[in-house]
Amino acid sequence: MTKQANYLTSQNGAPVADDQNSMTAGERGPVLLQDFHLLEKLAHFNRERIPERVVHAKGTGVYGTFTLTKDMSEYTIADHFNEVGKQTETFIRFSTVGGEMGSADAERDPRGFGLRFYTARGNHDIVGNNTPTFFLRDGIKFPDFIHTQKRNPQTNLKDPQAMWDFWALNPEAMHQVTVLMSDRGIPANYRQMNGYGSHTYSLWNDKGERFWVKFHFKTKQGIANLTPEQADILKGIDPDSSQRDMVAAIADGNFPRWAVKVQIMPEADANTYHINPFDLTKVWPHADYPLIEIGELELNRMPENYFAEVEQVALAPSNLVPGVGASPDKMLQARLFAYADAQRYRIGTNYNQLPVNCPHATKANHHQRAGAMAGTQCPYNGSQTGGDASPNYGPNSTESALVEPSTFAEPPLRLDGEADRYSRYNQDDFAQAGNLYRILPEDEKARLITTICGSLSETTMDVQQTMVEHFTKADADYGQRIKQTLGL
Ligand code: NDP
Ligand code: HEM
Repeated sequence: MTKQANYLTSQNGAPVADDQNSMTAGERGPVLLQDFHLLEKLAHFNRERIPERVVHAKGTGVYGTFTLTKDMSEYTIADHFNEVGKQTETFIRFSTVGGEMGSADAERDPRGFGLRFYTARGNHDIVGNNTPTFFLRDGIKFPDFIHTQKRNPQTNLKDPQAMWDFWALNPEAMHQVTVLMSDRGIPANYRQMNGYGSHTYSLWNDKGERFWVKFHFKTKQGIANLTPEQADILKGIDPDSSQRDMVAAIADGNFPRWAVKVQIMPEADANTYHINPFDLTKVWPHADYPLIEIGELELNRMPENYFAEVEQVALAPSNLVPGVGASPDKMLQARLFAYADAQRYRIGTNYNQLPVNCPHATKANHHQRAGAMAGTQCPYNGSQTGGDASPNYGPNSTESALVEPSTFAEPPLRLDGEADRYSRYNQDDFAQAGNLYRILPEDEKARLITTICGSLSETTMDVQQTMVEHFTKADADYGQRIKQTLGL
């Protein structure tokens, strides 16, 4: 007799005797409504898709391990940054930004570098990119910016005019435009590129001292980029080139690694530093705040189910843990809202109960209950996830009442200033774009100019002229060469 485990069943577990032929009234007859297995199969198929991410729709997910090589307790109480040699499970999702789920991996686009640490005090996510900066310094502009990166609402085509028009009117994008148009704008794969937390976050220690911090992930595979010509060919031959590269590397035991580094600024320095340290269009020059190596990230395990683990992973900058906090960075502040909100819509209210999203190294204990698809336990550790019978209110006087541990309270942050909408007045949009241009070797400068002009030449004359003015403000040679190549 066949073992039950091998039966094909319907969702209620009942054996299905025939999955090849619908139940019909007679050999040629119409299909009967009573064929509930057929109905279930068709109905489930209709519901196989969830909305793709509004940005970063195409991605590759991998589990890994973070090993701490420098004890950071001087700066933070964060569990994963304490005790040399400690290993913390991680999950990372790499992505491109502007394309849809089926788009090609080898596009010129920033790459997402969304990293989760499953720490003993909860999940800590650093949802960064392969660029240390971004196009904007205020989240209120993000929807408009992304509209210019995605398809034109009328033609449904990518729209260089909209893209450059937006950049011409928002010169704060100049630094990141230079990064994007440089050789590193098309990484050869996800292994051979750096990652950056990009934003300024905070660390705080057991003395209540706060430090501002930037995270850097330096690839140990060496940087490798594609020329536009190589990328154009690869996009046609293999739109999934980065996914394929990662699957092959992990299958071969060729585990990719990154050196994890931080820049640390004492809290008070932010008031006097000549750069606004919370401006996401800027880096902190290494000469001012040198990189400190704290550990290694290794990727070593592919997910078993792409949809369950990669499509449904809910990475969010608001997933912070004791010892790591946010900062006044306006972009980060917008993101602290945006991700969990997007995930409630994209995945559903109880998305944090899914195995990839629930804490793995600690238990989630709270009073949130019920909602669509409420389960009871995280399969990793039996975390209470909203379905069990313990009290759903706090405080309560039961023996199992949850404690609010004041030892994990974040130190207070002093704020002052008048509530207003501050424009970009007196912000420097150009100096660091020029710094980057000037460190590029001559052959890369030449490719940068060609790439910019190839795209910019598809726009109107007034946009081209404004952009030339911006490039000139970054660096006179930069602007002059673009002007000349455009024939202005
Ligand atoms: P440094 O000379 O100390 O650092 C230069 C940085 O530029 C290095 O991190 C290096 O990264 C990176 N870099 C080198 N070649 C390229 C390239 N072809 N394309 C893009 N990045 C490259 O100078 P500063 O710290 O003063 O920074 C100068 C400029 O470097 C900045 O304006 C910024 O554009 C860029 N940069 C700075 C970073 C920072 O955190 N300070 C981080 C990344 C870029 P690597 O070691 O991986 O080659
Ligand atoms: C994904 C919003 C800026 C990196 C997303 C998603 C949203 C979003 C809604 C989809 C989330 C999901 O459905 O799971 C925003 C807003 C921003 C902003 C409002 C500005 C205010 C940035 C910046 C970075 C970044 C500055 C990098 C430094 C990412 C990454 C993902 C992502 C890596 C993909 C996460 C994953 O792999 O699941 N963003 N974003 N975003 N964003 Fe942003």
